[in-house]
Amino acid sequence: MIRFDTENKIFYLETKNTTYAMAVFEEKVLLHAYWGKRLSHPLSLDWLETLEFRPLAPLDFGRYSTDMLPLEYSTFGSADLRVPALGAEYSDGSYYTRLEYVDYEIVDGKPALEGLPATYSEDGDKVQTLIIHLKDSQKDLHVYLSYSAFEELDAIARSARIVNEGERAEINRAFSATVDILDLENHDLIHLDGAWVRERSITRRKIVPGNQSIESRNGCSGAVHNPFIAVCESTATENCGNVYGFNLVYSGNFSAGVDISPFNSARAYIGINPQNFNFVLEKGESFQTPEAVLVYSDKGLSGMSRIYHKLYRTRLCRGKFRDIPRYVVLNSWETTYFTFDENTIVNLARDAAKIGVDTMVLDDGWFSTRTTDRAGLGDWWENPDRLPSGLGWLAEEVNKLGLRFGLWFEPEMVNPDSELFRNHPEWALHTPGRETTPTRSQITLDFSRRDVCDYIIDALSSILDRANIEYVKWDMNRYMSEVGSAALPADRQGEVYHRYMLGLYYVLETLTQKYPDVLFESCSSGGGRFDPGMLYYMPQVWTSDNSDAVDRLRIQYGTSMVYPYSSMSAHVSVCPNHTQGRITPFKMRCNVAMPGQLGFELNIGNCSEKELEMSRKTIEKYREFEDVFHKGDLYRLVSPFEADFSAIQFISEDESRVILCIDSQRGLFNGPDQYIKMMALDPDSQYKCGDKTYYGEYLMNFGVHFCNKREHISEMLIFDKIQ
Ligand code: DGJ
Repeated sequence: MIRFDTENKIFYLETKNTTYAMAVFEEKVLLHAYWGKRLSHPLSLDWLETLEFRPLAPLDFGRYSTDMLPLEYSTFGSADLRVPALGAEYSDGSYYTRLEYVDYEIVDGKPALEGLPATYSEDGDKVQTLIIHLKDSQKDLHVYLSYSAFEELDAIARSARIVNEGERAEINRAFSATVDILDLENHDLIHLDGAWVRERSITRRKIVPGNQSIESRNGCSGAVHNPFIAVCESTATENCGNVYGFNLVYSGNFSAGVDISPFNSARAYIGINPQNFNFVLEKGESFQTPEAVLVYSDKGLSGMSRIYHKLYRTRLCRGKFRDIPRYVVLNSWETTYFTFDENTIVNLARDAAKIGVDTMVLDDGWFSTRTTDRAGLGDWWENPDRLPSGLGWLAEEVNKLGLRFGLWFEPEMVNPDSELFRNHPEWALHTPGRETTPTRSQITLDFSRRDVCDYIIDALSSILDRANIEYVKWDMNRYMSEVGSAALPADRQGEVYHRYMLGLYYVLETLTQKYPDVLFESCSSGGGRFDPGMLYYMPQVWTSDNSDAVDRLRIQYGTSMVYPYSSMSAHVSVCPNHTQGRITPFKMRCNVAMPGQLGFELNIGNCSEKELEMSRKTIEKYREFEDVFHKGDLYRLVSPFEADFSAIQFISEDESRVILCIDSQRGLFNGPDQYIKMMALDPDSQYKCGDKTYYGEYLMNFGVHFCNKREHISEMLIFDKIQ
């Protein structure tokens, strides 16, 4: 998987279909040499000769300029004037870091990243890790670049560890990965953008001269941009063409983009956002960057997505819920909001049992003085007026009905109107002497402090210990502002955002390890923190507060660019939809939710007999098909961002079953005929769909007919291969 050609000084990282190569140039400089389709022969470095000297370019390597060479981990202050990977300020006031190659080590498997979520390997996996040591001799600053090659899963995970052996230094940027791409003619940049209730729309734009980037500055990965970019050929489609994906395993501020040189090369980069980031390293201290996951595919965007899906399902998500079927929940939120008591919840559970739901989740409003969203966050004990018999009793009553009991928390937040805040105002993030702007009447607890983290661990543990709670919804409903920590000195305030993430990961690690039988679901006003960092602790995310079936087609389609359907929590809700006001057929709501982690978010007691029957059938079908949706391969066929309808296809791991989901976004009377061409079938095998049989070649080349009608159309077609 990983080898070093000592003669030519080239590192090769090989996975099933890709090669990633670096070269040690002039004994000193680590160059990026290649990333793409797997090579069968040694790489030529002749292209170096073609990097002609340009007038006015800094000339620091014979006839070469660092400003033009493809560098593996560039530094601020040097003669490389592109966006750098690393920046530091030293105690003598200087800013220049000059890294030179020292040596390398190759280890089997993949070492864990201290305190940070990351992909991992298990015994027997074909995974190796290359660690390259670079050093600034004058400053005694060391950088260890880490590259794990997942041979079977076809991905490369990168990170950097910076160790200061010299005088005090302040790191002000430390990207997880940069890749210098030499030929950028006719390429596009893709990212996932949006806002609350319209998360992860696909943006695709032509790469033009200049630095084009996306970032988060709000303290979490956020709904505005996802920590993901892809660079692809302009001709690449869902199912063909070269695509390079970059995804950050991190839930805080990030920056990702491409910086184009005047000579048509690009530096793609991803990592912690350098803005508001300064990390002090005293002598002997180190800094670990988050991990970036790099995926190359020559099979288009869907090809890239399939690699991310499999890697994240099997080597990012952890714990027993990684591999077993999850729960079909009824969540109380859209049914009751803040108006309920314990009997309401028992009655909802009783109705839920009738359609086959297996878990009753009590959402917001069950604790302390929380009867509106203006008070109570931080005070994690039952509201005695609403739950006079206590959570233990409620869980038992729900269990007696044959359902599990689940509970909502928002542990990172505090309302100023709470006992916690009145007792510990200094436990919230704030800037001394300034007002903190509330959002949804709440402010953020300072998770950069260990005492705050431990308090929250204890508070949640005491609830989880005294009732049979088998599912936790972990919510987070505001972006951060006026950030500062009372626990850190003035010169370390630039560390708060990152230390917050380290604190959050510590809390999540502690609780998920302590309660391995509890299924944790992540949420942030819906999908405001849908990132690989969260997936490491919680295998599923409430994809969006928007449960409208039409909008969900786009949200789930965009989310699937990186994240598997097994990570997308998706609920059938009432109409008119509470967010969008749209009316869609019940069948469509069931079909759109089914490929995700199916659940319900409506008053089942108000459903018609027909809807109850359809709900029962949906759960039965879901249990029959969930392995195909969650462990199979996804092919996106028709994009709801480009057409009136969406078509996606799942193929089971053993390729014996194929499910085609087609959903129209609007009723269209007298619509045009469409033929959806399926993918990756065996052309010579026959597939049975209902009472019809088709050859694979027919389904792939002629296609499946679809026509919009006056009503929304929603079809879920099952094709079984005839053996
Ligand atoms: C935001 C979440 O996305 C909703 O599902 C719900 O849990 C509310 N918070 C409760 O306040």
